[in-house]
Amino acid sequence: MKSNQARLNTGNVVPLLGFGTYSCTYDYETTQKAIYMAIKMGYRHFDTAKIYGSEPALGKAVREAISDGLVDREHIFVTSKLWSSDHHDPVSALHHSLQNLGMEYVDLYLVHWPVRFKKWTDYPIPNEEDFEDLDLKATWAGMEKCLQLGLCKAIGVSNFSTKKLQYLLDFASIYPAVNQVEMHPMWRQNKMRKFCEDYKIHVSAYMPLGGPGNFWGSTFVIKDPIILSIAKKHKVTPAQVALRWGMQKGVSVIVKSFNEGRMRENYGAINLKLDDNDMVNIEKMVEIKIMRGDHLINTTTSPYRTIEQLWDYEI
Ligand SMILES: NC(=O)c1ccc[n+]([C@@H]2O[C@H](COP(=O)([O-])OP(=O)(O)OC[C@H]3O[C@@H](n4cnc5c(N)ncnc54)[C@H](OP(=O)(O)O)[C@@H]3O)[C@@H](O)[C@H]2O)c1
Repeated sequence: MKSNQARLNTGNVVPLLGFGTYSCTYDYETTQKAIYMAIKMGYRHFDTAKIYGSEPALGKAVREAISDGLVDREHIFVTSKLWSSDHHDPVSALHHSLQNLGMEYVDLYLVHWPVRFKKWTDYPIPNEEDFEDLDLKATWAGMEKCLQLGLCKAIGVSNFSTKKLQYLLDFASIYPAVNQVEMHPMWRQNKMRKFCEDYKIHVSAYMPLGGPGNFWGSTFVIKDPIILSIAKKHKVTPAQVALRWGMQKGVSVIVKSFNEGRMRENYGAINLKLDDNDMVNIEKMVEIKIMRGDHLINTTTSPYRTIEQLWDYEI
């Protein structure tokens, strides 16, 4: 295994530098071109989800790269996610994602959020009447079936607290391989990473830059004076510092850029090495959870009446 990879509890390896494919101004052509360019640059780990709408563009870009001889399917790691309206039937949902992708399997299939919506809720922001009771045992049984059928090489979750992971571990026949959560120098997930290390669950970091330029994100991370001074010291960019910090913590970082220059810049984070001082200084940064999940809170139908309940007070 190379130093820029991690091993999952399935035995398979995952590249630590991942490429996010979610853009709120989704455009098939732009997404497909960016992914093809990313493969050419050396990115080998791609993150999508049914709700992002980017599965067809990702599939097309990978197929094109394979037919152009740039890469083999075995050397590309693809993650997709079960949307909350599909908890009643993960197997059919994954079949549908595979059809979108034009692939026989994904490397990782995640439960996107610990919430369950009615079947018609094919949009990211639910209405009050869209919530259903979460039945995690039934959902996870469906996820395990996906693995047994060979539709995916690993299963996992996303946006789970350690408390929800513990509940899952209490009944799971197959442990999750991954928990994908928000993580960056201002939301360091120390408790989560310790828990996951103990149970051999790989942590994957979404929004590793804090999502600068996104309406849900912030420039807090890449404008923080500690990050800026480390970047200056190593003659690199703040984004490279943030990404490298995540990789040095052993997590895979899922960064999104469809801009050639920034894609190259982010890829360059692989070659950076932060020293102990840098790592200690980053621990001093204030912590702020940027993606709080407010859209999943209501006092009538959601299982979560408050943000604290959604994250089990780990916020
Ligand atoms: N599991 C979940 O619930 C969940 C939630 C959120 C996200 N995700 C995944 O994580 C991926 C990344 O999340 P994200 O987009 O929210 O956060 P992010 O990767 O931290 O930030 C992306 C934003 O930063 C800009 N950017 C990229 N590289 C940059 C650089 N070097 N310098 C300055 N700005 C830069 C991008 O714009 P340009 O494209 O213009 O460069 C984009 O607006 C998503 O695509 C998705 O795959 C998962």
